[in-house]
Amino acid sequence: MYDFAPTAELEPAERYRQLADAADALTAGEPDAVANMANLAALLWEFVPGLNWAGFYRMVGGELVLGPFIGRPACIRIPLGQGVCGTAASTGETQLVEDVHAFPGHIACDAASQSELVVPVLRDGKVIAVIDLDAPEKARFGAVDAAGIEALAARIAQRI
Ligand code: SME
Repeated sequence: MYDFAPTAELEPAERYRQLADAADALTAGEPDAVANMANLAALLWEFVPGLNWAGFYRMVGGELVLGPFIGRPACIRIPLGQGVCGTAASTGETQLVEDVHAFPGHIACDAASQSELVVPVLRDGKVIAVIDLDAPEKARFGAVDAAGIEALAARIAQRI
C-alpha cells in the first residue's frame, strides 16, 4: 500500500517539500498522465490543509478542460483568459486570489470557495495544464503556498 502522508505539525514550507517528494515518488516510472494527475490531486488534498477543491485543468485544443480533482463537480471547459484558471493559463503566471468575489470574471464552481491559488504547469515553455486549489476561507493562500505549488508543478511537468 502507499502511505504518503505529511508528518504532523510541519511548517508549511517543509510540508510542500514533502509533498513534492511524495509526488515525485508516486509518479516515477508511470507514463499514464490521468493516473498521475489523479494521484497528485489526492496528494494535494492530503498535504494542503483547508481546501474544498484541488485538481487539474488541462490545455486541450486551445482551452482548459477539467482533469482529475478532489471536490465538488466543477465546470468542464474554461476559455483562455477567463476566470482565475483561464488567466493563469493565458499569462503563464500564478494567480493568488485572496477573495474570489473581487476577481473580475471569477468562475464559481463551488459556492463555498472564497480564495483560490492557480499555478500553471509549463513544459518546454508552454502551459500544458494548471493546478487549481480552492479554499472556503478568504486569503487562505500566501507566498509560501504559491512557491510550494510552483515547485510541485515544475517537478511533475513531465509526468502529466
Ligand atoms: N474558480 C475557477 C474555476 C474552477 S473551480 O474553482 C474548480 C476559475 O475562476 O477559473
